[in-house]
Amino acid sequence: MKILFRNKDINSIKADVQIVFLEKKPSIKKLVGENDLETLEESGFFKDATDTFYVSSSKKLYLKLKEFEAEEIKVAAAKACSALKNFNFKSAKIEGYSDVELFCRAFAEGAILGSYSFDWYKSEKKESQLKSIHIASLLGRKSGVSEKSINEALEAASLVAENVNFVRDIVNSAPDDATPMQVASIAEKIAKDGGFECKVYDEKFLKSEEMGAFLSVARASAHPPRLVHMSYKPKGGKQPTKKIALIGKGLTYDSGGLSLKPSDYMVTMKADKAGACAVIGIMKSISKLNLNVEVHGVLGLCENMIGGNAYKPDDILRAKNKKTIEIRNTDAEGRLVLADVLCYIQDYFKKAGQQFDYIIDMATLTGACVVALGEYTSGVFGHNEKLKKMILSAAEDAGDLMAPLPFNKHLRKLIKSEVADISNCSSSRYGGAITAAMFLDEFIYDENKQKWAHLDIAGPAYVEKAWDYNPHGASGAPVRTIVEFIKKCEGK
Ligand code: BES
Ligand code: ZN
Ligand code: ZN
Repeated sequence: MKILFRNKDINSIKADVQIVFLEKKPSIKKLVGENDLETLEESGFFKDATDTFYVSSSKKLYLKLKEFEAEEIKVAAAKACSALKNFNFKSAKIEGYSDVELFCRAFAEGAILGSYSFDWYKSEKKESQLKSIHIASLLGRKSGVSEKSINEALEAASLVAENVNFVRDIVNSAPDDATPMQVASIAEKIAKDGGFECKVYDEKFLKSEEMGAFLSVARASAHPPRLVHMSYKPKGGKQPTKKIALIGKGLTYDSGGLSLKPSDYMVTMKADKAGACAVIGIMKSISKLNLNVEVHGVLGLCENMIGGNAYKPDDILRAKNKKTIEIRNTDAEGRLVLADVLCYIQDYFKKAGQQFDYIIDMATLTGACVVALGEYTSGVFGHNEKLKKMILSAAEDAGDLMAPLPFNKHLRKLIKSEVADISNCSSSRYGGAITAAMFLDEFIYDENKQKWAHLDIAGPAYVEKAWDYNPHGASGAPVRTIVEFIKKCEGK
């Protein structure tokens, strides 16, 4: 579906249906013809009875808009698109008003994200007939905005939203259709299309790099692990304004391993690869947006399974930085994979004699984070307050929900081990998101502490109930936030 801006009066545009957003204001009468007003009043539309109402005589679909604000516009656009799925209209139009650029960006994002549905495995597919929506606004000479800048903003918003949907598709794929090798191939394809580099490493490499933690988690799976390193650099040898590393947890399935998950908790664990998939979507976005930054996307892809050769509680693993880890619970596997991948990228820069500015990992790391913040919000950790603020403000602008969570020196003792340098599982049932983040902190070198942020996306990555413009299943978080973050720091 295409969202297009038209610098025209809405009445001069032909479309099968008109979408009308109504703010609860006296101006309603101006927007709604007398006849429609009567129909809407009779239907109880204004008394919150329904969200959308279609008047067939005027071919108008009415929606309520609480206020002129980006998130509200996105939700209304999504509702309009899902209502229009039940009709056979091919084109629609809507009047763009107030801040037209903001309206276009938000409308496009909401419409594209709200039109998403995952039907790969359905025999009968219900395809929407709607192919285009025209946003009409006749720009006066004094409006202060140009058609060009509106079109650019609209295209960028559409591109990122399409990429969020692309990430949703990978996360929603069944675990046997998105194995480590298959996800690595997707990353390779995206890199090829985007004209940037992508290296895929197998177990031999992991062994040679002494990634004992990552390898142990992967051991019992029929699908071998992969470490993917994508690197995007500004085209034409331009000097990047920032160098950023993004790390994604890519557990293509998390059964819990020998500390097996109860069956109800195992369902949805195909989504334990959401961090890695988000990194692919971010790389895809920044390469298409041609941002003047250097970004390294590193994915730790494997499956946490059971079997005679599975790693086990009581094992002692040795991570890439030589730290030893006592395994007390094989279900706390994400932090083990991340430990080695975090060391890998820090060593990579060290060996190249290069500095980087930020290192951000994203991971469906703990159920405890979902308990702390609820299903819709990601937790943000880090030692650098300024960096955390930048991420939180990007999230606010992009529309992802995020909240800061603190480290706590008193919880450090909970991951102490009597037999190894550290334990992979807290000795307390409380504060699990924090102790997991503090475990990762053990693998961030002193010189990089201020550059690091950790996002626990266990809640919003996958929700089994549609909400706002998010469908049942994968949400594609935190792609929009990190793209926004990179855009913001590109200019600084
Ligand atoms: N992948 C899970 C975390 C998770 C839970 C993600 C719910 C999404 C929704 C992670 O590997 C895990 O199992 N963590 C354990 C850690 C515990 C054993 C210390 C958890 O959160 O229970
Ligand atoms: Zn687990
Ligand atoms: Zn996991």
